[in-house]
Amino acid sequence: MDKSRKTVVEYLDKILADSEKAAPEDLLSSYKGILYPGTLCSPETFQVLDSFEARSDDVILATYPKNGTNWLDQVLNDLETTAAKYTEEEIKERINITNELSLFPRLEFGDPEKFKRMKELPVRRIIITHLLPQVLPKSVFNSMAKILLLVRNLKDTAVSYFHFYNNIPTLPSFGSWDEYFTAFMHGKLCWGSYFDYLVEWNKHMDDENVMAITYEELKENQTLGLKKIADFFGFSLSEEEIQTVAEKSSFKAMKEKSSKTHGAFGKILFRKGIIGDWKDHFSEAQNKEMDRKFEECLAGTKLGEKMKYGLYCKA
Ligand code: A3P
Repeated sequence: MDKSRKTVVEYLDKILADSEKAAPEDLLSSYKGILYPGTLCSPETFQVLDSFEARSDDVILATYPKNGTNWLDQVLNDLETTAAKYTEEEIKERINITNELSLFPRLEFGDPEKFKRMKELPVRRIIITHLLPQVLPKSVFNSMAKILLLVRNLKDTAVSYFHFYNNIPTLPSFGSWDEYFTAFMHGKLCWGSYFDYLVEWNKHMDDENVMAITYEELKENQTLGLKKIADFFGFSLSEEEIQTVAEKSSFKAMKEKSSKTHGAFGKILFRKGIIGDWKDHFSEAQNKEMDRKFEECLAGTKLGEKMKYGLYCKA
């Protein structure tokens, strides 16, 4: 197993095993009106979320579930590590410290003590979260840490989340796509409504420490996307280094390595990795309903324009 991923894989495997045993009513928890996976997020951790102290050099990735979080997790780690030119020894040391401190793959996962442990991390931190901006600890914005916002077209996100819900024991399954679609449109899913998520993040589009990037622009020109990300965080990499990071993080390469990087979770996570899968799922009425809601909530906004709804979501 890839040593750097050992504790992550053990953690993910344990979560899957615990979820198989969990009673259906324990799979979901709710905090301030928003659902979260009960085996990953606890009210106790949310209560102390504000004690998290962001640092100005933190690398923060904000995404709604199924936007390509795990893809960008690897990309950001590889860009940061390559640019920092750590020695083998330093890389080992980083891995050991991170493992010892038992940090979790998302800011909102894990035990309430973790924010204290995160303070001790003597290296640059890459922090990933699905939280709404108004739920994030205040220090995230006050510290001026840079935030990369990754978004994906609404329809493919909906489809990806549907399969995830139905394939992963951590979340309760839906009886049908139609039943799920209603839940998606009403935000009755973990981390709440994707529409609300986009509307709230749109309010930060002019923040100088926030940069939005889309799943689709990365798919269509990954090298260019990686260069934009590297520039934003001030990572200095040669063309060749960018190319290596891009090759390692192609869907095919990540899927092939997934059992080593994500354990059993890998099979569920790396599903299709394409643009436009929604065309095989949405009925005409569902297309119209989503198109209408997009018009109401996001059309004409900076983030809405960036997402190119007409190109990626129109039948
Ligand atoms: P699909 O279910 O449409 O295949 P997240 O990491 O936020 O849970 O997102 C998972 C989605 O990102 C899945 O979409 C997955 O296949 C896709 N994905 C993961 N790695 C990818 C990569 N390297 N390139 C493109 N898509 C990727």
